[in-house]
Amino acid sequence: LRTAAVIPAAGRGVRLGPGAPKALRALNGTPMLVHAVRAMAASRAVSLVVVVAPADGVGEVKRLLDEHALPSRTDYLVVPGGDARQESVRLGLEALPEGIDIVLVHDAARPLVPVDTVDAVVEAVRDGAVAVVPALPLADTVKEVEPTAPGEPEPVVATPERARLRAVQTPQGFDHDTLVNAHATIALAGDGATDDAGMVERLGAPVVVVPGHEEAFKVTRPLDLVLAEAVLARRRA
Ligand code: CTP
Ligand code: MG
Repeated sequence: LRTAAVIPAAGRGVRLGPGAPKALRALNGTPMLVHAVRAMAASRAVSLVVVVAPADGVGEVKRLLDEHALPSRTDYLVVPGGDARQESVRLGLEALPEGIDIVLVHDAARPLVPVDTVDAVVEAVRDGAVAVVPALPLADTVKEVEPTAPGEPEPVVATPERARLRAVQTPQGFDHDTLVNAHATIALAGDGATDDAGMVERLGAPVVVVPGHEEAFKVTRPLDLVLAEAVLARRRA
């Protein structure tokens, strides 16, 4: 079965603060996106990586991938992204050649996911799951609130049982046709799912969770850059 990875990397990184698009920011001297591409290419299952770049950054991303040593058994494509993550993923899916059976969708913003986690996701799809998400139990208790005006305290509506909750990561793995169908159907309905597996769920298809990894955290805020660079330094030590 042929496996491709689509890496949405077209976001601006507003929560990280002013500067270059998030995927192009450096972690210990190497762009976050290059770390993320390497993390996918490290899996022997992955034969193609499609990077979805900021629309004005396709040339720059191509140059970065050419400059950094990447495994020769993996092919790379760079395509321009859209205004929303969902649109960027769809544009990446449209760039896939014929003959891809399994698709991984991996955030460029999760540059440090270990290869064992990638392989576990691929393995679960090969074993017959149509949609697989890596996820971790939560450390914090989560409350559902009734949103109020800014500055007003928010009334608590419910406290879901923490032991049954999972924080979802990427790469999420899919049967190719199931994911393409979900993007076609759900996007047409104008429905805003916040992850790809959520779109498959809305189709009514089963989604399963496999263990995620703490190093697969998403670089979202400035403190996450500090953590990511510390993880890289520890790996090199
Ligand atoms: N992404 C994308 N296209 C968009 C928006 C997001 O490809 N229009 C990608 C990001 O590049 C990132 C992943 O989706 O790799 C997860 O999104 P997020 O962490 O929210 O990144 P940003 O949208 O860049 O950050 P922010 O929301 O803080 O602006
Ligand atoms: Mg975003």
